[in-house]
Amino acid sequence: MSAAASPALAEVLRHAAAAWQLFRGGRSLDYALGAALAARSDLRPAVQDALYTAVRRLAASEHIVERLAARAPAPEVAALLAVSLAQLQGDAHSHYTVVDQAVTAAQQSLQTQAAAGFVNALLRNFLRQRESLSAEVQREATLRYNLPPWWIERLRGEYPDDWTMIAESQQRMPPLVLRVNSRRLTVGDYLTRLAELGIAATRVGAQAVWMHQPRPVAQIPGFAAGEVSVQDAGAQLATPWLDAVAGMRVLDACAAPGGKTAHLVELGADDVTALEIDAARAVRIEDNLRRCHLFARIVVGDAERPTTWWSPKGQIPFDRILLDAPCTASGIVRRHPDIPWLRRASDVAQLTTVQANLLDALWPLLRVGGRLLYVVCSLFPEEGRAQIARFGERHADARRLPLPASQLLPTFMIAAAAAPAWRDANEPTLHDGFFYALLEKTG
Ligand SMILES: C[S@@+](CC[C@H](N)C(=O)[O-])C[C@H]1O[C@@H](n2cnc3c(N)ncnc32)[C@H](O)[C@@H]1O
Repeated sequence: MSAAASPALAEVLRHAAAAWQLFRGGRSLDYALGAALAARSDLRPAVQDALYTAVRRLAASEHIVERLAARAPAPEVAALLAVSLAQLQGDAHSHYTVVDQAVTAAQQSLQTQAAAGFVNALLRNFLRQRESLSAEVQREATLRYNLPPWWIERLRGEYPDDWTMIAESQQRMPPLVLRVNSRRLTVGDYLTRLAELGIAATRVGAQAVWMHQPRPVAQIPGFAAGEVSVQDAGAQLATPWLDAVAGMRVLDACAAPGGKTAHLVELGADDVTALEIDAARAVRIEDNLRRCHLFARIVVGDAERPTTWWSPKGQIPFDRILLDAPCTASGIVRRHPDIPWLRRASDVAQLTTVQANLLDALWPLLRVGGRLLYVVCSLFPEEGRAQIARFGERHADARRLPLPASQLLPTFMIAAAAAPAWRDANEPTLHDGFFYALLEKTG
């Protein structure tokens, strides 16, 4: 007998549908899950799994409902259909179980009770027409890659040869990658420990270890003790490129939740200011640093308005600045599949302006000869390549330094060029998509 019985699928579908409605109303998956499970946190793993699966099939599921329903169902019913259709497109449960449990879920709620027969009919109808509907989905890019049309147009425009590869890679499940705290142990030591525990893992970067089977952080050896942290291998490239050593004054300008702050200190920086505008998120920097037994000065403030937390008269300029700017996050869709459905095309221009303001506001805080690393987890050129070109036009005292591989490519392609020895042949798209630019102040 298993230690903990799995919750009934009907219960999982009902809660996932409640979260789905919040998400389709514009809330993030994190928020939607928290709100829908306020009274049932015990269901979280199963509901999260069902919800993320549904979001990864959003476009196809909504298309299928449109094709099979005579008129648009009520939002509560549409939500239950979306999470149930996603289960029917996967293989975690038999078709019979999914349909049966979806109908039970419909019957259990006042808002969907009357539609139980409709839910049953639509799901069965889908199963009968599955092949032709799946072929339809494959033919249409927005359905196949689960992205809004405007997003596909941008990807296609910027990466005419690679956009399908990028879109496909973003549909895969993200790998679990850890950063080994170099102050505490070596990657080799950690790999040995994992091997002794029978946990399969591969080195995929200077401090990066890919754990082949994802697992909750509570089950990651050494996580609670701060020996390792969870951080994508692409994100781990940033800090070493900044080359911040002991004695340098370092500013991490958009710091929460503190992944890169901790990495900076692990690599030897001992005078780090971690700035964050959101006080609640700043607490997470503190938590992360404490877990890893590291120290940085945490400041809650607005990087766009340095005079509120930094005085040009009384303070020495920084030797290094890391600007991990707010962005569309179009490079981390496989980890956050809700992003394309929460963003609007107009957000790109709005975020581009914020990034330019941040760059301009922080540049005067850098000493001559100092370096600023600009990072966005985005594949859109306005936020990356074009942003830095415009910055260069505005600042004659900025020189762009070369990075080990082309900064113009999404990180998962950089990985191939930068670290072939660490790249696993079976996992060519191990990294998320980032844009990096290293700028030096010339005078
Ligand atoms: C991409 S995240 C940073 C991730 C972080 N560097 C890490 O590696 O864990 C961007 C952060 O910048 C913060 N932020 C946005 N605008 C800001 C501003 N004007 N000043 C300071 N922080 C800001 C956001 O609240 C968010 O926590």
